Amino acid sequence: MNDTPHAATRIRPRERDAILQALRAGVVPRVGHQHIQVGRLAEVSAMLADIIRIADGGAGSRFVIGDYGSGKTFFLHLVRSIAMEKRLVTVHADLSPSRRLHATGGQARSLYAELMRNMSTRAKPDGGAMPSVVERFVSQAMAQARDSGQSPKAIIRQRLDSLSELTGGYDFADVIARYWQGHDDGNEQLKNDAVRWLRGEFTNKTEARQALGVRTIVDDHSFYDHLKLLSRFVEMAGYDGLLVCLDEMVNLYKLANTQARNANYEQILRILNDSLQGSAAHLGFVFAGTPQFLTDTRRGLHSYPALQTRLAENTFARDGLVDYSGPVLQLANLSPEDFYVLLANLRNVHAAGDPAAYLLPDEGLHAFMRHCADRIGDAYFRTPRNTVKAFLDLLAVLEQNPGQDWQTLLGTVAIAADTNPDLEPFDDEATGNSDDELATFRL
Ligand SMILES: Nc1ncnc2c1ncn2[C@@H]1O[C@H](COP(=O)(O)OP(=O)(O)O)[C@@H](O)[C@H]1O
Ligand SMILES: [Mg+2]
Repeated sequence: MNDTPHAATRIRPRERDAILQALRAGVVPRVGHQHIQVGRLAEVSAMLADIIRIADGGAGSRFVIGDYGSGKTFFLHLVRSIAMEKRLVTVHADLSPSRRLHATGGQARSLYAELMRNMSTRAKPDGGAMPSVVERFVSQAMAQARDSGQSPKAIIRQRLDSLSELTGGYDFADVIARYWQGHDDGNEQLKNDAVRWLRGEFTNKTEARQALGVRTIVDDHSFYDHLKLLSRFVEMAGYDGLLVCLDEMVNLYKLANTQARNANYEQILRILNDSLQGSAAHLGFVFAGTPQFLTDTRRGLHSYPALQTRLAENTFARDGLVDYSGPVLQLANLSPEDFYVLLANLRNVHAAGDPAAYLLPDEGLHAFMRHCADRIGDAYFRTPRNTVKAFLDLLAVLEQNPGQDWQTLLGTVAIAADTNPDLEPFDDEATGNSDDELATFRL
């Protein structure tokens, strides 16, 4: 029996090393998810339907909810790679105390800038895609100008005209026009400044005016407006839409200041309403967070009544019945069968896809699972971060010590259950301080 679905595919050494290195460090690899992925069929097809809707000019918001270590970050990367395959532009970032959806001290601009740094396309899956997206818009406009006999400048203005009706659209269009001007005059500085502006890297309006002649910059206040502009723009540049992936949403739940937290939840409500009402186009959001971020009625999304009603569970979808049409996507835990396939996939990646080079027989995979179950119980397959690491450590030792017998070695493998580094919420509300920048974090 062949347990390894990808056994026929050879894996390039660079990809193999990148995957193994990331997993051994306890982080999700940036490439090669298809070589290790298990399960999640229903969740993936729900997201695929969203992506197709977004590409067709629709919108969508999803909340990917799962325990620490259940595979949220992994799933987000998987969704991102599907979106890129479907010709969407993706941006992604982790929220943190200094990166939020709403703020007054620069934290929302900072989240925007992080998203833009990570902008990716099928041709540039590792980020830094902004210049090539803009370049693509400009070269398409130039081709159109050639065909129609009009000047490129007139074409660009014409195409960007529709942005002007959106908040901030006028300056956005101006910045793109500056980029073209830089392109036309061979002025690299002007092009770089335009890209810097689009990436939200200007922090000072005077500086932006001197560099580009525009009066505004991307700031905390215009965070969401700029994402909407960007979704229109990437579509004009020939992509099918924009997917925004936001991970570690629990950071909003951790905001001690009620007003700051609610302002962030209000921003989420705007985004969700726009996608439910169809007033955003070619734009999707995926938010990932732990169950407490969603359901905690004091600090989670459920503490905000309008969100609670929109995100309430379908009461019919209980006891094993599922409903993937609502905005909340609960990531089910991996099963022991999934975990077995995951081990087989890891063995295969380690051998660069060559079954002849497998370091363990199938019996070794079963024995490893029994060993994990003895040490940490069923956590081993539900939250597999540490067990994946331990398994790869075992393979590394077997590889470097060819005479070693795996049975003996297995007995010595130490495994600890994954523990969530986020402490439980604090019970007291921050008091007497309404300034959101002074919100305190007790981590
Ligand atoms: N569907 C999956 N297929 C293969 N490996 C997975 C899958 N889901 C999670 N993993 C692995 O499990 C570990 C934990 O996943 P991660 O996405 O970091 O969890 P979370 O973000 O929910 O804390 C990672 O090593 C990841 O590679
Ligand atoms: Mg994660």
